[in-house]
Amino acid sequence: MTPKHFLDIAAIDPGVLKEILARSHALKKDLSAKPLADRAVAMIFEKSSTRTRVSFERGIWQLGGQPIVMAAGDMQLGRSETPADTARVLSRLVDAIMIRANRHSDVQELAAHATVPVINGLTDRSHPCQIMADLQTVEEAAGTLQDLRMAWLGDGNNVCHSFIEAARAFNFHLSIATPAERKPDEEILAGAGNHASWSADPKIAAKGADIVVTDTWISMGDEDNKPALLSLLGPYQVDGALMSLAQPEARFLHCLPAYRGMEVTAQVIDGPQSLVFDEAENRLHAQKAILEWCLS
Ligand code: CP
Ligand code: NVA
Repeated sequence: MTPKHFLDIAAIDPGVLKEILARSHALKKDLSAKPLADRAVAMIFEKSSTRTRVSFERGIWQLGGQPIVMAAGDMQLGRSETPADTARVLSRLVDAIMIRANRHSDVQELAAHATVPVINGLTDRSHPCQIMADLQTVEEAAGTLQDLRMAWLGDGNNVCHSFIEAARAFNFHLSIATPAERKPDEEILAGAGNHASWSADPKIAAKGADIVVTDTWISMGDEDNKPALLSLLGPYQVDGALMSLAQPEARFLHCLPAYRGMEVTAQVIDGPQSLVFDEAENRLHAQKAILEWCLS
């Protein structure tokens, strides 16, 4: 039987995604579920992490399982053992694998050869676990996702890609503003149909939005491009003026880590409209629901 991988939002049936989201809310209130009793989850990190590392490790413990955390540089994976062989070996020893990888293709290779579920904990293409936590946060604040207007401002990056995929699955609209040079992947954008729209103008995206979202301008792996990115992305900073174009009750999201004075002002991220620390906490609950689904 093919394992239930969680690699991308668009790869999962929308009905299943909605069930996972409902379970995230339930698990936040009920710590008694132990579906991972006597099971182990390997976590592989090729890149830095605070939230993903701690929320997965804590979540696996809370579900009764054993987390095994490895920096890829300490593994033979970091000495060119293939993702395929890594998958074959880990599948004999653990019950699921979570990986944060540089290349999305490596995660796909791992999943293709694993006989246990593989969860994408961020790649250069996407960050689906983040978006499940974001949607939980929005539902808590707004009561629904249906027909909401969300705005993505800044870089058309991995987190943006998963947001675009979620717009179609959860039936909201995502208005994206990025510089043309940092436009999200055309295929992902096209896949959202009329649930996502793009413009280079941040004012167009922010106007009337219920939820305003941004992310760091310098994603992991983009450090060499920093000067060019800073000059391109300056006009997309989420500040009070941009927030004033959104709905008066609009809320602000950022997956963190945040860089105040760059992609967002301190006034916005530390102000009353910000939900960023609820969002960070919800990584725990959302990923527990994802793990439970993968292993059910
Ligand atoms: N948002 C997020 O994935 O944070 P970390 O990089 O700290 O895991
Ligand atoms: N876009 C960011 C997200 C970090 C959680 C990055 O890839 O570094």
